Amino acid sequence: MTFDLTGKTALVTGASRGIGRALAVGLAAAGADLVLSARDEALLKEVAGEIESLGRTATVLPADVTDATACGQLVEDALGVSGHLDVLVNNAGGSSYMGPFTDLRFSGWEKVMRLNVDSLVHLCQAAGRHMTARGSGSIINVASVAGLTGTPFLAPYGASKAAVISLTKSLALEWGEHNVRVNALCPGWTKTDLNKTLWGAPDGGATWVANQGLKRWATVDEMVGPTVFLASDASSYVTGQSIVVDGGQTAA
Ligand SMILES: NC(=O)c1ccc[n+]([C@@H]2O[C@H](COP(=O)([O-])OP(=O)(O)OC[C@H]3O[C@@H](n4cnc5c(N)ncnc54)[C@H](OP(=O)(O)O)[C@@H]3O)[C@@H](O)[C@H]2O)c1
Repeated sequence: MTFDLTGKTALVTGASRGIGRALAVGLAAAGADLVLSARDEALLKEVAGEIESLGRTATVLPADVTDATACGQLVEDALGVSGHLDVLVNNAGGSSYMGPFTDLRFSGWEKVMRLNVDSLVHLCQAAGRHMTARGSGSIINVASVAGLTGTPFLAPYGASKAAVISLTKSLALEWGEHNVRVNALCPGWTKTDLNKTLWGAPDGGATWVANQGLKRWATVDEMVGPTVFLASDASSYVTGQSIVVDGGQTAA
């Protein structure tokens, strides 16, 4: 069973809601034990309950990933749980700004970079040191199709996700000889709190998906299969790649 994650420990950031929550539960369903992180401890405990009902263990470690010290501590505490970390899913991220580039304050640019890029630097460094020394590991960075194409009115977000994709390739090349794989997941439009104002509109957000193949928004559960693939031995020869899960958006 190459998709089987039994015996593996996975740390998922942004596991309290949205895509991260679905990924955490999905990895547990594939057999992994989970370490769950985000800022909202109450929501994380809810997710932990769901995972425990699947017969897996779930440890809740609240952290703000924009805090470099907290990122290092998070990985250290996660390692304290089972002594090893097999899978890291860097999912926490987003952007609260959507608007013209000429109106963007530089502090807003820095905020997006801190959340989407700096956090990965700290978490990949801490987890990468452990994984390269141990000689195994799979890191999955949640990027976005916005990092592959131009993203008008979301320029800082697009640039941050392009940085995630580039970092993913560089680390895959640096760490390959240590059997540590690093890949990116690039979701397209997926219904979560992040973009509720778009899919919650009277047309159900139809205009945003009108030009893609499947012509509908993704559910968070549709991100699970590709993530289990990247986490598991089923993808043992896959590294430095961006798996695009976008209903055909980038095929247009
Ligand atoms: N939804 C989409 O259409 C879409 C498309 C492409 C890529 N993505 C990417 O997918 C990832 C998840 O997005 P989502 O749509 O699921 O967003 P979401 O529903 O807003 O969830 C974001 C998650 O990140 C956590 N988080 C936010 N800021 C954090 C911080 N400073 N420290 C720690 N955790 C933090 C949140 O938990 P707390 O609030 O509890 O901290 C929450 O669990 C993001 O990287 C996003 O860029 C989403």
